[in-house]
Amino acid sequence: MDAEKFWDKAAEKYAKSSVGNEAVYQEKLEATQKYFNAESVVLELGCGTGTTSIHHAPAVKHILATDISNNMLDIGRRRASEAGVENVTFQQATVENLEADLASFDVVLALNILHLIDDPAGVVNKVSALLKPGGVFVTGTPCLGDVLINYYRILIPILRLIGKVPPVHYIKRSELESSFADAGLEIEFQRPPIKGEVAFIIVKKPV
Ligand SMILES: C[S@@+](CC[C@H](N)C(=O)[O-])C[C@H]1O[C@@H](n2cnc3c(N)ncnc32)[C@H](O)[C@@H]1O
Repeated sequence: MDAEKFWDKAAEKYAKSSVGNEAVYQEKLEATQKYFNAESVVLELGCGTGTTSIHHAPAVKHILATDISNNMLDIGRRRASEAGVENVTFQQATVENLEADLASFDVVLALNILHLIDDPAGVVNKVSALLKPGGVFVTGTPCLGDVLINYYRILIPILRLIGKVPPVHYIKRSELESSFADAGLEIEFQRPPIKGEVAFIIVKKPV
């Protein structure tokens, strides 16, 4: 099953799932909002059912919320409408084929998505080009390459065959950090690295 089909099928269940540790989620939202103002133009990659974009919407001018899955986006649109949020545009696009003007975003969000991408370093380069000088890239990445023991490396391909997990990559935090540096992005903020936790890192494009 390819990624689009997997996530379309997963959408209703994903919409009902919790954000995990609520206190940590709130901490990440607050860390992100330090970079917003009423003029901020924001892009979210892999927005899922829109929870984070809808939360941030009142603090910014506009959010382009993108995802590979139309089912995810439909739920996001419904939720935004129910919340009275009008400044989020939900658009079907993969991270790889998204077309947008260079240097047009103040903030780009990629939460729980870079480990699903074939070429995360390529995406980091792309985001760097899409950011305005001084703009920030907010990332939360499960670094499976740092935590998965060999047992899971055998189990995951089997679960993939029966459609229980999406295509994933075993990215390491060190590789992620190198890709930021290679793209000219400087670390602004990071939650202390804890093995097994999503790496939450905010990087900035120099002015
Ligand atoms: C684990 S969910 C994360 C959703 C949301 N960012 C969050 O943190 O709750 C991953 C999302 O990425 C989307 N996705 C997977 N591969 C993608 C790709 N290549 N381009 C764009 N979106 C993708 C899926 O449809 C799904 O909504």
